[in-house]
Amino acid sequence: MIGTAQPDGQALAIKGLSLEFPTFSGSIKALDNVSIEVGKAEIVGVVGESGCGKSVTTMAATGLLPKGRYNITGGSVSLFGRATLTMDDKELQNMRGKVVSTIFQEPMNALNPTIRIGKQLTDIIMRHEGTNLEDAKQRAHDILADMLIGEPERIMRAYPFELSGGMRQRVLTAMAFSCNPGLIIADEPTTALDVTVQAVILRLIQNRARRTGTSVIFISHNVAVVSQLCDRIYVMYAGRIVEHGATRAVLDAPQHPYTQALLRCLPERLAPKQELEAIPGAVPNLMHPPAGCYFQPRCGEAVERCRTHSPQLAGSDAQQVACWQRGDGVLILDKGHGNA
Ligand SMILES: Nc1ncnc2c1ncn2[C@@H]1O[C@H](COP(=O)(O)OP(=O)(O)O)[C@@H](O)[C@H]1O
Ligand code: SF4
Ligand SMILES: [Mg+2]
Repeated sequence: MIGTAQPDGQALAIKGLSLEFPTFSGSIKALDNVSIEVGKAEIVGVVGESGCGKSVTTMAATGLLPKGRYNITGGSVSLFGRATLTMDDKELQNMRGKVVSTIFQEPMNALNPTIRIGKQLTDIIMRHEGTNLEDAKQRAHDILADMLIGEPERIMRAYPFELSGGMRQRVLTAMAFSCNPGLIIADEPTTALDVTVQAVILRLIQNRARRTGTSVIFISHNVAVVSQLCDRIYVMYAGRIVEHGATRAVLDAPQHPYTQALLRCLPERLAPKQELEAIPGAVPNLMHPPAGCYFQPRCGEAVERCRTHSPQLAGSDAQQVACWQRGDGVLILDKGHGNA
């Protein structure tokens, strides 16, 4: 599905989410007015450098951030029509696995090292689906086979440490899909793996999601990875969405200087012997973000008002961008970010 998700077809609707982490030396403004929609059966990518708020966004949306360590300062989150920010621990627990599952980068943190794979997988299926052990074993076997695991029986008898990184990530992917959740959050699921294994696992996630109508949010710092898999892309910079749109539109005609810079950094896009670019500078410290556009200190196109006022997202349904030098970036006086 391409285009903005329709309200009745939404798996996830994050609207204007703002979040801070209080610390002794001040608040880290990790998210500022973040809105992300994922339609049913839609695969959506979130891309941006490390520290831009990709994980915090989805963790906050699914209640995975440590309680009492952050403040939501604005916005709402709805998962298949249910508000998640006000859910208690029990409601969140019931939702995980069955409604939403997350695949993280390092499977060793998500797998229990002392329990065989088969037991971990069947326990999840029995707990969420209420099936008996025999049925759960059959389902575990089938889903491992579906992840192109040649000998599911052997893998079910194994402990996590006996498996390669790629095999552990397949197992974790199988676990995420095992209770047929409506939404899978894949947070840099293959970053630690080599490129060939990475490509296979990404395709497995995409194929199963397409076949089962599962919605997916794909988080990556690599715009190439996200673009191969996703219907739409959100580009995040320093806790703000700076561009979003249909994948083709964003790739063929990137608007935001940050998106353009991310694309210039892709080795795949270089002509022979052309030097690989890196974006100069770094993501700002979110305890003391710059006034105006957060990308301004790194932007070659900055003009005076970029230093004083934040551009808001503007454009069509197919593509929106927050930049004074593009389209009709509406002048809105910023509150609360030290801007004039
Ligand atoms: N528990 C936390 N306490 C304080 N700051 C945090 C915490 N978790 C994340 N942050 C900060 O929030 C920002 C966004 O982090 P994150 O979402 O992990 O980035 P990404 O996933 O895009 O790499 C970073 O500046 C990070 O340092
Ligand atoms: S608003 Fe200004 S500083 Fe920000 S990306 Fe656009 S041109 Fe660059
Ligand atoms: Mg992250």
